[in-house]
Amino acid sequence: MSLLEVRDVSKTYGSGRSVVTALQGITFSMEAGSMLAILGPSGSGKTTLLSIIAGLLQPSSGEIVIDGSPIHLRSSRDAAEYRREKIGIVFQDYHLIPYLSALENLLIMPRLAGRVTRAHREKALGLLREFGLEKRAKHSPSELSGGERQRVAIARALMNDPEIMLVDEPTANLDTERGMQVVTMLGEHVRGRDMTCLMVTHDRRMCAGADRILQLVDGRVAEGL
Ligand SMILES: Nc1ncnc2c1ncn2[C@@H]1O[C@H](COP(=O)(O)OP(=O)(O)OP(=O)(O)O)[C@@H](O)[C@H]1O
Ligand SMILES: [Mg+2]
Repeated sequence: MSLLEVRDVSKTYGSGRSVVTALQGITFSMEAGSMLAILGPSGSGKTTLLSIIAGLLQPSSGEIVIDGSPIHLRSSRDAAEYRREKIGIVFQDYHLIPYLSALENLLIMPRLAGRVTRAHREKALGLLREFGLEKRAKHSPSELSGGERQRVAIARALMNDPEIMLVDEPTANLDTERGMQVVTMLGEHVRGRDMTCLMVTHDRRMCAGADRILQLVDGRVAEGL
């Protein structure tokens, strides 16, 4: 059984003349422990698709099935719980909190819950070390390079050991070599832990380490890769 199934998902934004069809009949599935890359140009629907899988956005039709059960994220509370327990998400523009250090950005969820334990700190420091950021733990995002910010965002998404990592354009602000380093680090982490990772990107070179590549064109999955 697949861990994640996307079944005939469509999404339109707006109404009347300003309607935009961002996704049309998207269907695919992912096995646990695999890394899937979705490749598509700007505007092809990549962020829309990730947001729907993350429960941040409702599809216009179709459904997302996790572990065989459709998730109907009708209440924002259900969506929040699903995200907290199963999903790690790295946004296209990172969403780091500017006035917190790298370490405190990783600790934001336990901090909001009002209980940062020693185990949380050790875990956060371990992840920063793994992603080569141990010397940057106390730096704020404005003091970090683009690649360092990206790695902080990835490390933060890994803090709660998500079953599914969703990564939006991991290399948007990086040169190819650094971009590939980030993707390789992420791939090693994911594979070592049997996590499932879905990465979307416009850059074919970043898909080298993926088990499977799907192509998204104008909101549809194109065959023939
Ligand atoms: N809130 C919105 N309202 C109306 N249209 C939207 C909205 N968000 C996205 N769109 C449109 O939906 C389409 C898909 O957008 P999306 O952000 O998913 O693309 P993308 O593949 O992530 O692009 P990029 O590579 O530039 O990040 C685009 O045509 C975009 O203009
Ligand atoms: Mg996008």
